[in-house]
Amino acid sequence: MSDLDVLLREERSFPPPESFRRDALVGDDALHREGAADPDAFWARMARELTWIKPFTRTLDWTPPHAQWFADGTLNASVNCLDRHVEGPRRNKAALIFEGEPGDQRTLTYWDLYRKVNQFALVLDRLGVKKGDRVAIYLPMIPEAVIAMLACARVGAIHSVVFGGFSPESLRDRINDSQCKVLITADGSYRRGQVIPLKRNADKALAECPSIEHVVVVQRRAGAPGDAAFTEIKEGRDHWWHRLMREARNADGGFYRAPEEMSAEDLLFVLYTSGTTGKPKGIVHSTGGYLTAAAATTKYVFDLKEEDVYWCTADIGWVTGHSYIVYGPLANGATCVLYEGAPDWPEKDRFWAICERYGVTIFYTAPTAIRAFMKWGPEFPARYDLSRLRLLGSVGEPINPEAWMWYHEHIGHGRCPIVDTWWQTETGAIMITPLPGATATKPGSATVPFPGVSAALLDSAGQEIEVGGGLLALTRPWPSMLRTIWGDDQRFVDTYFSKWPGRPDLYFAGDGAKRDEDGYYWILGRVDDVLNVAGHRIGTMEVESALVDHPAVAEAAVVGKAHELKGQAIAAFVTLRAGHAPSGALRDELRDHVAEKIGPIARPDDILFSADLPKTRSGKIMRRLLRDIAEGRALGDTTTLADPGVVASLKDQYEAQE
Ligand code: WTA
Repeated sequence: MSDLDVLLREERSFPPPESFRRDALVGDDALHREGAADPDAFWARMARELTWIKPFTRTLDWTPPHAQWFADGTLNASVNCLDRHVEGPRRNKAALIFEGEPGDQRTLTYWDLYRKVNQFALVLDRLGVKKGDRVAIYLPMIPEAVIAMLACARVGAIHSVVFGGFSPESLRDRINDSQCKVLITADGSYRRGQVIPLKRNADKALAECPSIEHVVVVQRRAGAPGDAAFTEIKEGRDHWWHRLMREARNADGGFYRAPEEMSAEDLLFVLYTSGTTGKPKGIVHSTGGYLTAAAATTKYVFDLKEEDVYWCTADIGWVTGHSYIVYGPLANGATCVLYEGAPDWPEKDRFWAICERYGVTIFYTAPTAIRAFMKWGPEFPARYDLSRLRLLGSVGEPINPEAWMWYHEHIGHGRCPIVDTWWQTETGAIMITPLPGATATKPGSATVPFPGVSAALLDSAGQEIEVGGGLLALTRPWPSMLRTIWGDDQRFVDTYFSKWPGRPDLYFAGDGAKRDEDGYYWILGRVDDVLNVAGHRIGTMEVESALVDHPAVAEAAVVGKAHELKGQAIAAFVTLRAGHAPSGALRDELRDHVAEKIGPIARPDDILFSADLPKTRSGKIMRRLLRDIAEGRALGDTTTLADPGVVASLKDQYEAQE
């Protein structure tokens, strides 16, 4: 049965448990009604929960496809995440509970975090960082990553966090695209007992990054910081984090760095994500609108209470880490768990040990992780006391009903609502989701739009579909929408607001979905050339470019194929240049080559060598047929092929290889 068939048959429904609903922030449809009655007024009310330096008087200025929210207001994101908490009873509350992969632990109170962010803001001043400058952050999941982001926000610099698993070349391209002035990295990062040499990777990138003036290096690795064999410090350019922090004082001897007054529309960050071309897009987010939606969704989707211990397992290098580890939870004054390493290190029970150790109450993870837990077996979570958990979340890819039910049973013990949250780097915050005390959930459905968000399904002609399948669109602007693509506004317009001619007001999400009789959305996945591998967005074109960069490769076509754990796996079809012959060794070499060019997450699962690729008479590669081959399906329509023989032979070869 295909995923779609499974979803179409899903009839189970789980109303919020009464015990949960009773104490929930939202236990009825009041918030949805408020959002529907007047979305702008709803968002303005949410925005007023933030601390503004100068209150806004305008809510929305909308010149499709460009929106501005709260544009005449001013604020600072770090003040909202820190200063306003340390002035009150949250001063000594844990903000971050950190656990490193080797088992080291650190707890930072709001006061600790406030002091360190101020100090690092002074460091940024000393390094010459000014309002509007870009700062690249290439760090493991350690408190310094949060400190660095918030310090950038404090001085008005735009941060660009690059996932620590990306290669030197990926880092280089991201730094150069937005011309970052400073890079913040670490000597190493722990992963499955190994130390990933982040600074060495960064050095490779920096050989071709003329805009970088200074590099700050966190000492993460145990041992002496002067271990030159592992970490080379280039005098004048590179600085140890701990040394700079020791000296970070202002003229009066204090550590306070006054927050920069930012306009709501000033940029808070740029974050690169994959699209349909080989070049990742720098998604740009504002300060006021982004923070409003990140904070409001965190509060209501996770039913966040003062005494919660909240854990989002995403990496800070992805948007989920930005909105739901840093800005959303900290703006709400929450206690957040931060874990550095792998879920199966040293054993497959690590996540559950962490949940028990810190009494985690809200747990937010990805379906790919849930499917791995399922495969490992329920005995791992069963070893721990998970009775503090009260709410579970899922994000990043469609969750199959089977995984949903397993999560419900073996982690939530039938007691915890599950919020399946649909959103994107571009949307900045959760868009389609249950409110756990108000929305009945159905396994596999992200349910309904968040209050103040309007979604629709359209066919390619722009006709709206009430019940059935279609292309997912957002039909009204929302505060945390991307403002543009860094340096390429035309690409922003073309990618997101040009799908339906004459309707520059409709945001095209790139996902297909279905809507049922209850108005519930069931996200089916990408309809463009973007893959979702274990919750990571990867463009087929990026992988193809990496492959053809290898001297043996003439041409490459990459498709996604369904994969039990990862959701999608990468299958590549490759033709070789004259003088090169297919071999197992070459296959391994090509897989490594892609991992080196982009990062290990993009390593192809399958590579098939072929004398030819199936093309239309006009020379276009027919990926649809390649997907059929990779997934072992009967071939679809082949009548438009220039040479129908090519696919039959490819199919035989593929099956022989399996
Ligand atoms: C997919 C991650 C189904 C979708 C926050 C989207 C989902 C892409 C869900 C964005 C979900 C995210 N159900 N699919 N709950 N959440 N997706 O930018 O295809 O890394 O377009 O943002 O992930 O990935 P991104």
